[in-house]
Amino acid sequence: MDIKKPIRKAVFPVAGLGTRFLPATKASPKEMLPIVDKPLIQYAAEEAIAAGISQLIFVTSSSKRAIEDHFDKNQELEDELERRGKYDLLEIAKHIVPDGVSCVYIRQPEALGLGHAVLCAKPVVGDEPFAVILADDLIDGQQQPCLKQMVNIFEKQQCSVIAVEEVSEAETDKYGIIKPEALYEGVLKIKNIVEKPAPDKAPSPLAVVGRYLLTPAIFNHLEKIEKGAGGEIQLTDAIAQLLKEEQVLGCQFKGTRYDCGSKLGYLVATIDYALQHPNLREAFKEHLQGICKNL
Ligand code: UTP
Repeated sequence: MDIKKPIRKAVFPVAGLGTRFLPATKASPKEMLPIVDKPLIQYAAEEAIAAGISQLIFVTSSSKRAIEDHFDKNQELEDELERRGKYDLLEIAKHIVPDGVSCVYIRQPEALGLGHAVLCAKPVVGDEPFAVILADDLIDGQQQPCLKQMVNIFEKQQCSVIAVEEVSEAETDKYGIIKPEALYEGVLKIKNIVEKPAPDKAPSPLAVVGRYLLTPAIFNHLEKIEKGAGGEIQLTDAIAQLLKEEQVLGCQFKGTRYDCGSKLGYLVATIDYALQHPNLREAFKEHLQGICKNL
């Protein structure tokens, strides 16, 4: 592999069952849930594009047709908006994906885990480094989108980079947890990684969140590993193997992450984004202030 290739491709594993959001996710994907007026998957695609990515690879399942439709052209809608003179909405509908960015869809036939979903993308990714973005981790990067912060590290270090964030002790068993060694400000060397350890077994409070830049060597490990936590093929387990032969860094990104795979995280994100929305901010703030008085 020529590791000096830029990161051009991003994989979006969207084939999970989304059981925490049932019944909303019975027939439509969790990644299409909107935060104010934009689906989670579009925030993720925009973050990838802002980091220089030009191919979006979606690993989907049978109930995820809405994602393909979202990124496709809707001629009927465009004609109707034009007829009604709604040009600002027409621009939004037309430019979901900018020129020069392509979308590819691959099926994960069974929800065998995140690691398996990433492996399904191998034929399209090929022999080059790539990004993995979990759209249900919505990240509001402070000055720069999270993935761009990670690409900056990749360009300097030419190795896999994973986003990490401190979580409370009670939450370690929900995440991959790293054993870190400080390298320079905001960047850690990952010495080890374990999936969902109990709080007393966690090597640190630093959890892996849904952004990864990986070298293609990860595929060799994904092909070999056995089912891990929860009976699923875990990406964390393949990264633990990758660490034995290549450097993998942790990026303590600047920004706020919302776990939109959980109802509470989703609600918090909705409130924060509504309070940033230019047309909604004032009226919504007034409403919240009214509610808070009576809480
Ligand atoms: P989650 O652990 O959040 O699982 O997956 P889930 O199925 O989406 O949701 P719950 O826990 O049942 O509510 C993390 C990410 O990995 C993807 C999911 O779509 C999500 O983006 N995934 C998971 C797959 O693509 N395939 C899988 O087999 C499992």
